[in-house]
Amino acid sequence: MATLGDLSRQYTALDKEAVGHLQNLVSEWGMLADFCFADLLLYLPTKDGEWLVAAHVRAATGQTLYIADFVGSTIDGERRDIIGASYASGEIEEGEISIDGVDGAARMLAIPVRLGEGPIAVLTREWSTRSGRQPGELERTYLEIFGRFAGMIRGGLFPFPGRVADSSISPRVGDGVLVIDADAKVRYASPNAVSALHRVGIGSNSVGQTLSELGFTDSAVRQAFERGEPVVEEFDQTADVTLLARCMPLIEIDEGRNVTGAVLLLRDVSELRRRDRLILSKDATIREIHHRVKNNLQTISSLLRLQARRLESSEAKAAVDESVRRIRTIALVHETLSREPGDDVTFIEIVRPLLRLVEDSLQSPDRPVSFVVHGDGGRVPATVATPLSVVLTELLQNAVDHGFHEGLSGKGRVSVQLEQIRDEGDAERALCVRVIDNGAGLAPDFDISQATGLGLSIVRTLVTTELGGTITMRRATASDSADGESSGDDGPGTVIELTVPLGGN
Ligand SMILES: Nc1ncnc2c1ncn2[C@@H]1O[C@H](COP(=O)(O)OP(=O)(O)O)[C@@H](O)[C@H]1O
Ligand SMILES: [Mg+2]
Repeated sequence: MATLGDLSRQYTALDKEAVGHLQNLVSEWGMLADFCFADLLLYLPTKDGEWLVAAHVRAATGQTLYIADFVGSTIDGERRDIIGASYASGEIEEGEISIDGVDGAARMLAIPVRLGEGPIAVLTREWSTRSGRQPGELERTYLEIFGRFAGMIRGGLFPFPGRVADSSISPRVGDGVLVIDADAKVRYASPNAVSALHRVGIGSNSVGQTLSELGFTDSAVRQAFERGEPVVEEFDQTADVTLLARCMPLIEIDEGRNVTGAVLLLRDVSELRRRDRLILSKDATIREIHHRVKNNLQTISSLLRLQARRLESSEAKAAVDESVRRIRTIALVHETLSREPGDDVTFIEIVRPLLRLVEDSLQSPDRPVSFVVHGDGGRVPATVATPLSVVLTELLQNAVDHGFHEGLSGKGRVSVQLEQIRDEGDAERALCVRVIDNGAGLAPDFDISQATGLGLSIVRTLVTTELGGTITMRRATASDSADGESSGDDGPGTVIELTVPLGGN
C-alpha cells in the first residue's frame, strides 16, 4: 500500500516540510478519531487539480462508514465541493454527503490543515447521522475536545512540531481521559480515568479540583501549561501503581497564544513495568548461573590437571589433558554467555578465546603455527554455540597435532572461516564453518565416516546428531589456500567444512 509520503511525492506539489507536518498529524490522529467517534480522512490537492485520499483512520470508539479502503483514489461530487470550499476559505465547512451502501444521510466536516500562511490539505470527519450514539456527557465532552483540536489544526497549532515520542505504549483515549480547564482544574474525568484514580486511592469526585489538590502528580499538566507543548511523563503514583501520562495543551490564538485547557490521557502501565522488571531480573539470574557453571567447570579442569601430573603413563596423561581441554572449551562458552544478555551469543566472541586456548597448548617453538579468522558468523543460539565450540576445538587441535609434526619446514597456517548463510527461498539460517590448514594432509584412503579416533567421533556425533548438520573432510586443492597465499611446501593441507542449521528467522 502506498504511504502518505509516496502519494504526496507522486501526485502533489507539497514540499518536505508540509509532508512532515501531515505525517505528524497522521501519527496523532487516532486520538482525534476516538474523540469524535468517526472516520477521519486526509485529502491532498493534486497537481491536476483533483483531491486525493491520502490517509484514513477509523475510531476505536465508533462505527466506521467505510469498509473499503479509499486511500490512493480521487473524489468528486459534494465531497469535492465541501473540501474545495474549506481549502479556499481556510475555514471549517460542513455539509451533507451520500455514501454507496449507507442509507440515510451522512455528513462531512472539512477542516483545513494549515502550515505557515495557509492550508496545505484538508482533514475531514465523516459520519452517519443515523448511527449516532446517545449523546451523554462523555460524548458531548469528547466532541467538544475534538472541536478545539479542529480549531488548532485550522490555526496551524496542531499537530505540535517535533516527533511524537514512542507511540506504541502511549496512552489512548480508551485508557482514560481527564479534561483540564484554563485554571488547571479537572473539568471532566472519563470512567476509565476515574478507575485509574481509584486505584491510586483518589476516590472523591475529582471534578472542580486541581490535580495537586487531589494529591495527584501534576508536573505533566504544569509543564504543558507553561510551555504550551505536549508532555509525556511516567511516574510511580504509589508504590504499586505506575502511570503513563500524556498531556496536550489546548491552545487558542487571541492576542497571542493562550493555553485554555489541556487533555490528559492516562494509562496504567504497572503491569507492563512489573513484567519489564521481571524479565530484567530473570536475565541477570541466567547470566549469574552461567558464571557459576563456568567456575565449576574450571574447578573440575584444575582437579583433572592435578591428577594428570601424578600419572606415569604418557598415554594416560595425554587422555586426561585432552579432557581438560574439552572442559575448558565448554567453560569458555559459559563465560561468554555470562557476559551477553539473552539466549544468543556473538560467535566470534567464543572463537577468539578458543583459538588462544589451542595456541597456548602448542608451546613448542619447533612448530610455529599461526591462526587467522575470517568472518564472524553473527549471532548464534547458546544451544548451538556450546557443541559447536567443542567441535571447533577438536578440529583446531587436530590441525596442530596431525598437520604439523615437529621439525616440519615452513610456517604452519590454520584459517577458520565463519559465514552465516541463508539459501534462497529457505527460511532457515545456517552457519558454515571451514577449518583449513596447510599441513601434511589426510591419508589418501581417509574417510571421515570410518574414522575411529575419539576426537572425530565426538565431532561427527555433535555435528550430525546433536546439531543436525553436515561435515566433510578432504585434502586441500590450490583454490583452498587458507589466506590466498600458496600452501607452501608443507604439504597439501586439509579442508574441513561443516554446516549447521540455526533455526528460523
Ligand atoms: N587436520 C588434519 N590433518 C591431517 N590429518 C588429520 C587432520 N585431522 C584429522 N586427521 C586424521 O584423522 C585422525 C583421527 O583424528 P581424531 O579422531 O581427532 O583422533 P586423534 O586426534 O586422537 O588422532 C587423525 O589421527 C589423523 O590421522
Ligand atoms: Mg584429535
